[in-house]
Amino acid sequence: MHIHTLRNFWISFALLGLITSCKISQQSENKKEKGLKDYYEEYFPIGVAVNTKTLNGDEGRLLLREFNSITPENAMKMGPIHPKENVYNWWEADSMVNFAQKHGLKVRGHNLCWHEQTPAWIFKDDQDRLVSKEILLKRLKDHIATVVSRYKGRIYAWDVVNEAIDDNDSSFLRNSLWYQICGEEFIAKAFEYAHQADPDALLFYNDYNTERPGKRDKIYKLLKKLVDAKVPVHGVGLQAHWSIFEPTEKELRDEIELFSSLGLQIHFTEVDMSIYPWEKERRPKKIGESDVFSPELEQKQLEQYSKVFKILREYSESITSVTFWNLSDRYSWLDHYPVEGRKNYPLLFDADLQRKKAYWEVVNFKK
Ligand code: GLA
Repeated sequence: MHIHTLRNFWISFALLGLITSCKISQQSENKKEKGLKDYYEEYFPIGVAVNTKTLNGDEGRLLLREFNSITPENAMKMGPIHPKENVYNWWEADSMVNFAQKHGLKVRGHNLCWHEQTPAWIFKDDQDRLVSKEILLKRLKDHIATVVSRYKGRIYAWDVVNEAIDDNDSSFLRNSLWYQICGEEFIAKAFEYAHQADPDALLFYNDYNTERPGKRDKIYKLLKKLVDAKVPVHGVGLQAHWSIFEPTEKELRDEIELFSSLGLQIHFTEVDMSIYPWEKERRPKKIGESDVFSPELEQKQLEQYSKVFKILREYSESITSVTFWNLSDRYSWLDHYPVEGRKNYPLLFDADLQRKKAYWEVVNFKK
């Protein structure tokens, strides 16, 4: 073969290789599937509650494809993280924050003061008597200072006080030990302690059933008092443990408009969509009670998901985060709560981690 022909042959061969490799990388780029976080990029970050299992294997891969924010489901609650006065369990919370940093995810801290999953020692002295207000506030301050400073600059938002409002319409604050010992003051104090520990962190009051007018108005009253007293509260966490029965469109719009009128950020912090009506009391599953995810329920759930996300998108000026409470129907806290032994299907991914029909409604912005 002539020397030029040979050279031209090799040049063409190299060019062909280059074109093919460009095509392949283009294809793999196209194959990089969009996740919820990408569809919602212009609206708000999309988060998920995590435990250590969620960070690994197929669940970890799903998490990274779909979400850009995490909330530790239990690891940062006072009971798990601070079980005894001088004992802190950091490893689980640390591993979540490290995971988030490694993958560029936001972290919402949850939570600093609650009436549940709180260790008994915090309310008691060594003779098992309730401690004074001064001691309890000092312990709360130490707890908040220790936890918030550890993650300073790495946790951008904290649920500072969780569920302090009573469910009963006739009373204002929940009659928790926090309230019994300190009166209303523990709420403002918790925010002040958190703000001292990390002045840059956004601080939230977080609660459930916030669309129900009775509870909603009491939360508003509490927040208004805090805002007027210049307590460092920056937002309201609306848990959004919804169901195919509630909230109505009006209830959802009304609460968003009401809370944003206070100039507070709104985070939807614990979104799920139960296929059952709300029940508070624990009970066993009744004989013959179905827990099948029928096509009718699937349809109702996708309609409800579609309706609420359309509204959330409309209010994206006020809503600065939306977090789901658990990753998929493989595991949800609603599987055993409040009805022992009853399965629920409240999320956007099924037990095989596949997108449900409701997922496609949530990312369909043409509706
Ligand atoms: C409340 C709490 C969450 C979680 C759920 C149930 O909503 O804020 O931390 O415990 O209950 O899992």
